[in-house]
Amino acid sequence: MAGHIVSIIGARPQFVKAAALSPVLRRTFKETLVHTGQHYDYDMSRIFFEELSIPEPDHHLEVGSGSHGWQTGQMLEKIEKVLLQTMPDWVLVYGDTNSTLAAALAASKLHIPVGHVEAGLRSYNRKMPEEINRVLSDHVSAILFCPTRTAVNCLAKEGITEGVHLTGDVMKDLLESCQERISANGKTLASLGLEQGSYLYMTLHRAENTESSEKLADFLAELDRRGQQVAFPVHPRTRPLLSDLETRLRNIRLLAPVGYLTSLTLTRHARAVLTDSGGLQKEAYLLGVPCLTLRKETEWPETLHDGWNCLVGLDSAPLFSGLAQSPTQPRNSPFGDGHACEKIVQALESVS
Ligand code: UD1
Repeated sequence: MAGHIVSIIGARPQFVKAAALSPVLRRTFKETLVHTGQHYDYDMSRIFFEELSIPEPDHHLEVGSGSHGWQTGQMLEKIEKVLLQTMPDWVLVYGDTNSTLAAALAASKLHIPVGHVEAGLRSYNRKMPEEINRVLSDHVSAILFCPTRTAVNCLAKEGITEGVHLTGDVMKDLLESCQERISANGKTLASLGLEQGSYLYMTLHRAENTESSEKLADFLAELDRRGQQVAFPVHPRTRPLLSDLETRLRNIRLLAPVGYLTSLTLTRHARAVLTDSGGLQKEAYLLGVPCLTLRKETEWPETLHDGWNCLVGLDSAPLFSGLAQSPTQPRNSPFGDGHACEKIVQALESVS
C-alpha cells in the first residue's frame, strides 16, 4: 500500500464523489472512511451507500444538524479525535460543505497534509456558506484536485499554484459508469406519472433561496400557474417552507428526496432542469438537458458559455423566457475525460 488516507464525508454531494473515488483509491492506498453525520435521513445518506456500493464508514461521528458554528465545531472536535487515533499520511476532503471545512481544519492543525477534491471553485459570493468553506479549505490544502481549467485559474488568482492538479471532475467519472443503470431505471418516470420530455425537474435548497418563505411561495405559485408538470424532490431544509402551499399546487409534484440514480433518470428525460444545486447543473450539462439555474452566480461558468445553462434566480420572467428558448450550440467537454479518479490517485502516489 502506498500509504494511509482518511477520507471525510458527511453530506449528499460528498457521498456521490466518494462513490467514484473510493474504489480507485483503495487499489493503491489504505482508506479509512469517516462519516460526520451532517446528513442522516435515509434518503439523504444511507440510500447513496446502498445504491452506489460505497464502503461502510469506519467511523460515524453522528454530528447532525445545528447552526453553522455549532455543527462545524462539533465536527472539528470529533474529527481531530479520529485523526489522533489514526495519524494517516493524508486527509482527503470533498467539495464545500461544513464537513469539508471541519476536516480540512482538523487535519491541517495536526500537520497532516490535506487533499481537496473539487478545489478552486468560486462563486465570488462570500454570503454563501459554501464559498467560505471552499476558500478556507483550498488555502490549507497541500494538494488540490481541480475539476476544470477555470478552477485552476481561480486558485492562481489567489496565489495557489503549487500542488494544483487539473484532473477533471469525479462526478463525470461516476455518471459515465452509471449510464446503463440510468437507462435500466426507465420505470421511474411511469411510477411518478411523468412523460418523457414533457416535465421540468426541479431541486431547490440553497440558503439564499430558502430564507424567505414568501419569495419562495410566490415563485412556486407562478411556476405552478404555467401548467407544466414539475417533479420537485424537496430537500429537508426546504420542506418546512412549503407546508401551507402543498395542497394548493396543481402541477408541481412535491416528492421526498430521491437517490442518485433516480435523480439522473429524472434529469435525462426532463424538458429542462431548474436547480440551485451545483452538481445538478453539471449533470444536466453532461446529459445534454437545458438547465435554468435558480441563482445569480454559478461556480460552473463553463455550462453557461454555450447556452445550455442560464442564470435566472428566483424571478419568473427570466425563467419563462429561458424555457421558451433551446440551446443551439454544441456542448464542449470542460469536465475532463472521465478518468479524474485515476489522475487523483496518481497525483497522490507521486507525493506519497
Ligand atoms: C449542505 C451543504 C451544501 C450542499 C447540501 C446538499 C453546507 C454549508 N451546505 O446543505 O453545500 O449542497 O448539503 O444537500 O455544508 N436535514 C435533515 N435531514 C438530513 C440532513 C439535513 O432533516 O439528513 C435538515 C436539518 O434540519 C438541517 C437542514 O436540513 O438543519 C440543513 O442541513 P445542513 O446539513 O445544515 O445543510 P444543507 O442545507 O443540507
